[in-house]
Parts: sequence; structure tokens; C-alpha cells
Amino acid sequence: MRINYFVAGGFVVLIFLVIIFVTTVLPASTFRPVPTPAAHQYTPKELAGRNIYRREGCFYCHTQFVRYQDRGGGEMVLAGDYMFETPHLLGTERTGPDLSNIGGKYADEWHKAHHRNPRKMKPGSIMPSFSYLSDKEMDELVAYLQTLGAGRKLPGWVAPPQEMRDEYDAIKSHVNVNSSAAANAGRGIFMQNCAACHGIRGLGNGPISLTMEKKPANFTRPFYKNYSDAMWYWRVKEGVPGTRMPRWGQSLGKEQMLYLVAFLKTLPQDSQPAGAEIHSIEQVDDPFALDTNFKTIDNMMKTSGNPYGTSRNLGESR
Ligand code: HEC
Ligand code: HEC
Repeated sequence: MRINYFVAGGFVVLIFLVIIFVTTVLPASTFRPVPTPAAHQYTPKELAGRNIYRREGCFYCHTQFVRYQDRGGGEMVLAGDYMFETPHLLGTERTGPDLSNIGGKYADEWHKAHHRNPRKMKPGSIMPSFSYLSDKEMDELVAYLQTLGAGRKLPGWVAPPQEMRDEYDAIKSHVNVNSSAAANAGRGIFMQNCAACHGIRGLGNGPISLTMEKKPANFTRPFYKNYSDAMWYWRVKEGVPGTRMPRWGQSLGKEQMLYLVAFLKTLPQDSQPAGAEIHSIEQVDDPFALDTNFKTIDNMMKTSGNPYGTSRNLGESR
């Protein structure tokens, strides 16, 4: 009789050990992520800054991971990004924003001013002041922050969130968006649903646009050459918050949206001389590119009204 208790007890211990093995030992011994470009080996100065980040408890309010569903937080993180992060500073709560991609977003001096008095840089901020840090500590902390996400590679200068890229990949086989048949089907849907705002040629000058503060997009701008199929799909599906562009995902089917993508891609994207607009992320900081950009816009507006039919880059339009 007694021996049965031992057998049962043995089983309990065995199950316990199996669980430990499967959840800890196995992953630790088989999971070998490869370092990604975002994995950063810290210099002693950056490491000192990292320790200040840890000491001051920045991770209580700031996370360092971008998940699948975190729109606008930048590229989704990968396991390999954390190759040299020991101990990790992932954090769990977002009282402040995620800092995975903060590197390069602001100048060093901005960070210092912000740490000394957050409200000076962000009115109404509830981030505490770290003005008691010495100049040396401040330098180190900022050096660390500037490494965060600095090596992360973006899939393109305009790119939809990962969630949308995956959704698009899952449905793209339904419709060949490069076929003229699909584009023709899209043209019909466009004329019925979109032309009133975007105009029959997609110039953003449909009749309703006259009454609109934020003008519909002009799809013939060279800017849209950067759009991937998934990007078009995303913008059509989810609309543009803060404008009258509807979320077509709520009223159109997936196939219909794919037909629209096929059609939008066929619109000529050269309504403006080449070189006059920012085409790549590198140009964003280039004063000459910006200058040409604004000068050209200015000239075109003088001669022919707003060539865009959209207020992007223009502040107040028309
Ligand atoms: C009590 C919570 C809290 C703590 C602790 C905290 N922060 Fe913040 N942080 C915030 C909030 C809230 C914001 C958003 C408002 C703002 O930008 O000031 C923010 C914003 C930031 C930003 C700007 C982010 C952006 O994208 O604009 C940076 C950089 C930053 N914090 C760094 C730090 C560092 C470094 C520490 C530690 C020395 C720290 N924070 C500690 C709450 C906190
Ligand atoms: C009620 C007017 C209206 C209708 C109808 C409308 N749009 Fe829009 N659309 C807009 C406005 C306004 C914007 C925002 C332009 C901006 O952000 O500057 C916009 C933006 C867009 C964008 C995003 C462009 C970008 O810069 O990423 C796409 C794509 C688009 N519309 C496609 C469509 C399609 C396809 C339809 C029809 C199924 C449609 N729109 C119907 C008003 C409209």
C-alpha cells in the first residue's frame, strides 16, 4: 500500500522537473538569437550612462521594446537586439513613452535640458527632474540614450507597421495587384467612393475637396513612389485620423481594397519636377533638399495654386 504513495510522489517530482526543463533549461540551451544591427556593444562611457539609467529607475516609467501592436513606436524589436543587454532594461510600464528608438531623435542638448527640467521641453510633462545629476553623469546618460535603436534598420522610409505587412502578405494572393484587370476593377470602386474627394484623376481636387480644411491626398506626387503595396493597403484600410479620409476597412471588403491598391499604383506619380521633393530619409536633414523643396512648392503655388491638393509639408494649405 505504502509504495503507491512513493510512486505518486515520484510522479509529482518528475512532472515538476519536466516543467522546469521545458520552460527554463530547454529555452536557455537551444535559443541562440543572432545579433542584429540594433544590438549595440557599449563603450565604457555609454555603459556608465546605462548604469545611471538603471540607478535612477528610468525603467520604472520607460520601456525598451516595441511589440507587434505598438503602432508608431518604430520597428518591432527582435531577440537579437538584446544580445549585449545584461541585465536587460525592458521595463514593464509606460508612464512615459517607449525609448527603444530614442537614439538620434533629439540632440544631446535637448536631452540634457529635458532631464534638468522636463516641462521646459514638454509642457505639462510628469517626468521628474534629474537636475541633480552631475555634468559628467548627464553626458554619460545622454551618450547611452543616443545608442538606443540607432542601428535599427527600417524597411523603407515610409513603411506600414509590421502588423499590416503581415496582414497584407496573408491576403495578397487573392488579387494580383499588378494586373490591369485588378486596376480596372479598382478604378470602378474609386470612381464610386473616392473620386468625390480625391478627384477622378487622383489629384486631390474632387468637388467635395473645396469644402475641406485638410485637403484629400494627391496621389500623383512623386512622394507616393515610395509606397509599397502594403503601405497603400494600410492607408486605405485605416484612413487618416484627423482628416475626413474614412477607414475603408469598415465598409469595403479586403478584395475591394486590393483592387483599389492596384488602381492607385497605376496613377502617374510625376506631377512635379524630380528632385523637388524629399525622396529618402537621408534628405530629411539636408538643408539644401529642404530648401529646394520649399522653393519649388512656393513657385508652383504662385503659378498654379497648390500642386498637391494635400497639406503635407505645407502647414496651412491653399
Ligand atoms: C515618473 C516617471 C518617469 C521617470 C522616472 C522617467 N521618465 Fe522620462 N518620461 C516620462 C514621461 C511621462 C514622459 C513624456 C513627457 C515628456 O517627454 O517629458 C517622458 C519622456 C522622456 C523622454 C522623451 C521621449 C520622447 O520620445 O519624446 C526621454 C528621452 C526620457 N523620458 C528619458 C528618461 C530618462 C533617461 C529617465 C531616467 C533618468 C527618465 N526618463 C525617467 C516619465 C518618466
Ligand atoms: C471625404 C473625403 C474622402 C474620401 C471619400 C476619400 N478620401 Fe482618401 N483622403 C482624404 C483626406 C482628407 C486624406 C488626407 C490627406 C492628408 O493626409 O494630407 C486622404 C488620404 C488618403 C490616403 C493616404 C495618402 C497618404 O498620404 O498616405 C489614401 C491612400 C486614400 N486617401 C485613399 C482613398 C481611397 C482609395 C478612397 C476611396 C475608397 C478615399 N481615399 C476616399 C479624403 C477622402
